[in-house]
Amino acid sequence: MSLEMTCPHCQKPYTLKEFTVGNYSSKIPYPQCDCEKREMARLEAAEKERERLRRIAALNLPAIFEPFRLKDLTCEHAADAQIYVEGFTPRKSKGLFIYGPNGNGKTTLGAVICKELAYRGRRVLFTTMTKTLNAMQEGGGYNQAASATKVLKDLTLYDFVLFDDYGRENYTPLRLQNVFQIVDQLYTHRTVFAVTVNPECMGRLQNYPELEAIKDRMAQVLMSWAFTGPSLRRTNK
Ligand SMILES: Nc1ncnc2c1ncn2[C@@H]1O[C@H](COP(=O)(O)OP(=O)(O)OP(=O)(O)O)[C@@H](O)[C@H]1O
Ligand SMILES: [Mg+2]
Ligand SMILES: [Zn+2]
Repeated sequence: MSLEMTCPHCQKPYTLKEFTVGNYSSKIPYPQCDCEKREMARLEAAEKERERLRRIAALNLPAIFEPFRLKDLTCEHAADAQIYVEGFTPRKSKGLFIYGPNGNGKTTLGAVICKELAYRGRRVLFTTMTKTLNAMQEGGGYNQAASATKVLKDLTLYDFVLFDDYGRENYTPLRLQNVFQIVDQLYTHRTVFAVTVNPECMGRLQNYPELEAIKDRMAQVLMSWAFTGPSLRRTNK
């Protein structure tokens, strides 16, 4: 082996460093630069970035939330959200009950929290009760039970689950049973979840006394963030 080695990155020649073990000593080429270390760090950072992008892509957020980032967001709870994501601990953090009139940015805040948590390597799901209830009934007949079991089990694999527009979904006796199962599953597994709710949805929920048990669980594990501002849909454009 030739000892005339140079760094493959910066071409600086290696120096010969003498290593002695007992009475055996040998000269080993040794880089004078830290290119190797820097290259390792670069590859690690690139892998981390790919993983971050994978998690964000997996979020499959609606395109309308694409431009929003928590650091540039101004809304009633932007500062709370910053503190929330920084201190977020799976299975330990409280969830969120984000409520208030239409169009003042509840879902947008929920979406940027999801993004921010995904950036930090958390497994996040942005969904609706409608989607989740539909998925539980997939297949119909006998297959429904299997679908329901799978949906419930999969929910607990996430660190954070957001149900946008809770209350918007339609209820049948089976779906009332299922929505209880969804919330109870998250509650008992300590999966952190959040909901956005507007007054119309809140009104719809009040029509179902069966949902009281859910309300009770949510009151225990979710913290409430009220939005009081006017609709940004009208003031924005
Ligand atoms: N912090 C913000 N700054 C500027 N524009 C915003 C902000 N938050 C939301 N918007 C814009 O306002 C509109 C309504 O936002 P969003 O859908 O988040 O409201 P919402 O409270 O979830 O409404 P709803 O109760 O009807 O579901 C959207 O067009 C969104 O792009
Ligand atoms: Mg919304
Ligand atoms: Zn080098």
